[in-house]
Amino acid sequence: MKIAIMGAMVEEIKPLLEYMQDIKSFEIANNIYYKAKYKEIETVIAYSKIGKVFASLSASVMIEHFKAQKLLFSGVAGAINSSLKIGDLIAATKLCQHDLDITAFGHPYGYVPEGKVYVESDKELLSLAKKVAKKKGIELKEGIIATGDQFIADSSKKEWIKKVFNADAIEMEGAAVGVVCDAFDVPFFVLRAISDAADMDAGFDFDKFLESSSKVSADFIISMLDEMV
Ligand code: ADE
Repeated sequence: MKIAIMGAMVEEIKPLLEYMQDIKSFEIANNIYYKAKYKEIETVIAYSKIGKVFASLSASVMIEHFKAQKLLFSGVAGAINSSLKIGDLIAATKLCQHDLDITAFGHPYGYVPEGKVYVESDKELLSLAKKVAKKKGIELKEGIIATGDQFIADSSKKEWIKKVFNADAIEMEGAAVGVVCDAFDVPFFVLRAISDAADMDAGFDFDKFLESSSKVSADFIISMLDEMV
């Protein structure tokens, strides 16, 4: 079983690499991929760079080139649901692209023909995550994650995304990874720890909490691997 673990930024995968053994790096299509072992589990780890295009490219490489059979995403997100505070963990039940808009042709936001508004996370990985959370006494929230090629630092934009997609958190890669995994029939799981509230303070908070929240997410992913060994 080979498991892909992805982040978008180096800060998101650095804490994961610290747990790994036998790390070998490979450069493909302008990105570095790390083959590594965690106990008996073969992994491939990479940060894609920010945004949906880079995330799709990395997920595709991990599946097609490295033959990953499951994909776990670890990183940070902005909170939309006011119950989510900095450092809280949210696992996506389903994800959507909030910036996909061909409403001019009568379609709903987030939809293009032959696609779907929401892509669903793998149920087994979600229940594994819930089991891990329970065992470790960690609070893991579940909810809808909205993805788009925009860093949201504006309360009215955030409210619009909440209203249209019923989203709980926002980031810039998850749905893209989900669409790729869905197309290749690879089970996927997107985990995010909150770094900011997607409001006027978001840029400042993001810089301040990127590292600590990335570590919260990475540590949880490692606990999931422990459960898979
Ligand atoms: N990732 C973390 N915070 C974010 C925000 N406010 N908007 C988009 N992506 C994010």
